[in-house]
Amino acid sequence: MTKKEVLLNQEAYNNVKDNRDKVLNDPYRLTYHLMPPVGLLNDPNGLIQYNGVYHVFYQWNPFETAHGAKFWGHYTSKDMVHWVEEPIALTPSDWYDKNGCYSGSAIESDGKLYLFYTGNVKKENGIRESYQCLAVSSDGVHFEKKGPVLELPEQYTAHFRDPKVWKKDERWYMILGAQTLDEKGAAVLFVSNDLYHWEELGKIAGAGMNGIGDFGYMWECPDLIQLSGKDVLLVSPQGIEPNGELYNNLFQSGYFIGKLDYETLHFQHGSFKELDRGFDFYAPQTFTDESGRIILYGWMGMTDDLEPYQPTIANNWVHALTIPRELEFREEKLIQKPVEELKKRRKNQIVIEGNTCHGESAELLIEVLSNGQFEISIRNEAYLSFNGEMLTLKRRNIKTNGLEARSCKIAAVTKLQIFMDHSSLEIFINDGEEVFTTRYFPNPKDKKISIQGEIEYTWTKWDLG
Ligand code: FRU
Repeated sequence: MTKKEVLLNQEAYNNVKDNRDKVLNDPYRLTYHLMPPVGLLNDPNGLIQYNGVYHVFYQWNPFETAHGAKFWGHYTSKDMVHWVEEPIALTPSDWYDKNGCYSGSAIESDGKLYLFYTGNVKKENGIRESYQCLAVSSDGVHFEKKGPVLELPEQYTAHFRDPKVWKKDERWYMILGAQTLDEKGAAVLFVSNDLYHWEELGKIAGAGMNGIGDFGYMWECPDLIQLSGKDVLLVSPQGIEPNGELYNNLFQSGYFIGKLDYETLHFQHGSFKELDRGFDFYAPQTFTDESGRIILYGWMGMTDDLEPYQPTIANNWVHALTIPRELEFREEKLIQKPVEELKKRRKNQIVIEGNTCHGESAELLIEVLSNGQFEISIRNEAYLSFNGEMLTLKRRNIKTNGLEARSCKIAAVTKLQIFMDHSSLEIFINDGEEVFTTRYFPNPKDKKISIQGEIEYTWTKWDLG
């Protein structure tokens, strides 16, 4: 896109934005999730708390409900509850990012906000190029592009993207998602002293390394975090076959726990664990906020064969981000908990008597007092059931109309926290030991939730505004 085209686009976008009735009147529009104002949203990008303000950027196609040349959309918040839509942060307008300002991350240095992202370029002959680029801002709203800071190393194909940057011992590190020339997914580490010059350290993990065997043809959106003295590599691998109740979505998101030796680059790690057990969760990213919490957002969507059937497309928008979740470490697992701030949205608390209630944009807290089998029916469109060893979420498939299932093994269910929002469900089991995230599209008039089974329980509902 040329600069002129971008300006025309900005004007076009303003027109689209002015004409948002269809979007806003969609019964499937969410209440408390971040969504595109119009168009398509995918990955969360550039998560940071900068000068006290939370920033969430996201992959955005403002003009279509399909993938294409991505922009970076931008929301800010003082409390992670109330959000403000900011001007477009990055536009695919330069030779090095003309087919998309792809995913990346944010850091603060000397009072400035730095965004690292992948410039995606498709040549006329169909050949792809990728550049890791930098844009800098002094006010957190207007960004000046500095162009590419890192070119593609020769051991990788142009599927080389999604820079995540962090500081350790006074140096900057960047991890990138990659595909080797023999088409194996990998995560590659770089180091810098000044954020502009980057030196390749090498692959720290990937298919065929550290005993993980065949593990996908491309790794997207890597993120390396330090938590409770461990190094945890979050990554979204593509090309993994289903295996029983594991890896049933088209692409996966999960993590490896281990210890990275920054000198030898040896990352001693355990097996891959999925972060989420539902249907719609991909490309998560974390950041550490000023209070030291590690907070994760994911994309509540997937580029699978159902994507074109999303019913919201008829109303000019598609997809959303998850709620923010705080990460903890418990018994060799990452635990995800809805951030405390979400409690500020609670209103109309009801302690429910009986086995039925009604809700649409609500939080349900179910304390299970005795172990046993149960089934929860949610708006006649999704069903969560436990048979004593396996927890299963079923939902209606938007293409075939049949029910489909995702399951995970779990010894006992003691607590369920269900965040419902018009057309999304995020179900936290046993304080975040497992999470099921899914979109679902119930009849807007059907708000009934009911519990059947052999268990004793108490349940409370809050509407979430
Ligand atoms: C993940 C992803 C990233 C890429 C972006 C493009 O969903 O494919 O690897 O940067 O989306 O929108």
